[in-house]
Amino acid sequence: MVGTRPEAIKMAPVVGEARLRGCAVEVCATAQHRDLLDQVLRLFAIEPEHDLDLMRPDQSLSDLTARALTAMDEVLARVAPDWVLVQGDTTTAMAASLAAFYRRVPVAHVEAGLRTHDLAQPFPEELNRIVADRVGRAHFVPTAAARDNLLREGFPAQTLHLTGNTVVDALQQTRAHLAERESARFPVIDGERRIVVTAHRRESFGDGMRAIARALGRIADRHEDVRLVYPVHPNPNVRHVMEEALGGHPRIELVAPLAYPEFVELMAGAHLILSDSGGVQEEAPALGVPAIVLRETTERPEAVEAGAVRLVAVEEEAIVSAAERILLDPREHARMAQAVNPYGDGRAASRIVSILRGERWEPFVASPARAAS
Ligand code: UD1
Ligand code: UDP
Repeated sequence: MVGTRPEAIKMAPVVGEARLRGCAVEVCATAQHRDLLDQVLRLFAIEPEHDLDLMRPDQSLSDLTARALTAMDEVLARVAPDWVLVQGDTTTAMAASLAAFYRRVPVAHVEAGLRTHDLAQPFPEELNRIVADRVGRAHFVPTAAARDNLLREGFPAQTLHLTGNTVVDALQQTRAHLAERESARFPVIDGERRIVVTAHRRESFGDGMRAIARALGRIADRHEDVRLVYPVHPNPNVRHVMEEALGGHPRIELVAPLAYPEFVELMAGAHLILSDSGGVQEEAPALGVPAIVLRETTERPEAVEAGAVRLVAVEEEAIVSAAERILLDPREHARMAQAVNPYGDGRAASRIVSILRGERWEPFVASPARAAS
């Protein structure tokens, strides 16, 4: 079951690998996201067998959840699958887990065990992943820290499988395709430092989004060699604030959400990334690009501990000074720009499929060495 852009990106390698190895896979798209999801499904040549078409403008969490449960239940009743695979921490993942649980279909959770231990951050994702883990029978944990979270919560060790994160599989596959392309949409320009921005977390709506917008404006004002490129999330709570505050700034380019290959290309050529995204937090260190994570807390501490990512509160001054430190000090930039890949090695999907088929597999071992993927 997939519903949003990040789920589709991270589930696509699993669907591809499972089909390659002869598994009967049916993809159910809740389409909690419409355009963002379709973009990714097209890219990975996935045509969902079931499309619930649930997205509504500015949808509320309760309304979406209620409609998702009802629609998924019908699909589960019709298909009667052996497993339901869910990914991550979205409303789709939570509702699919619950719907499968009610139908007594075993749930396998891809990207299990992530925790901030704070139900308010990220909201409502921390609860969503707890629900998916709680009802899950198989937990594909991306890192040792995620596995330890679940051990501490009393999950039996035999349900925990250290696979790495499938985002690294998707990133590697996409970079391989990009390498075959002749022209780039976002070529690196001499003398220009590119800052890539994304921000869309619900807990930052309102004051937080306005603080981010003011900070971006100040950073762009201060540095003539800097160009900010910001693919703006279509959520109206994000889009309206950013367009009003930053539209027309000569060094800030607000663009529509980019197809995954273009976004990977944009990140790979960046000097710095500012983002509150889960996936981008995992991709930036793998690409060797310093990242400032615009959040109070993170469920992905590994890259912060490795020094590749800095966690910065959603406050104007804090964001500006963290960015200035990296923009003004080349040694600081170089220290952070060490490609590390604590989240995966590109073989997570293969492990997941082996586990589901009861075949032999070797757990993911994070390499302490530099690992530009
Ligand atoms: C959801 C996830 C979040 C994830 C994010 C990825 C939940 C609770 N949150 O948040 O964890 O990080 O997706 O992007 O599941 N919209 C469009 N077109 C689209 C997608 C969204 O117009 O393709 C607009 C719609 O007005 C929609 C709104 O964005 O109602 C919000 O979408 P929703 O899926 O409810 O939440 P996200 O904020 O995207
Ligand atoms: N992404 C993309 N196009 C964009 C912005 C992001 O393809 O314009 C990708 C990004 O590389 C990452 C994923 O979308 O893999 C992250 O999705 P998002 O930030 O929406 O959700 P989150 O990861 O925070 O749940």
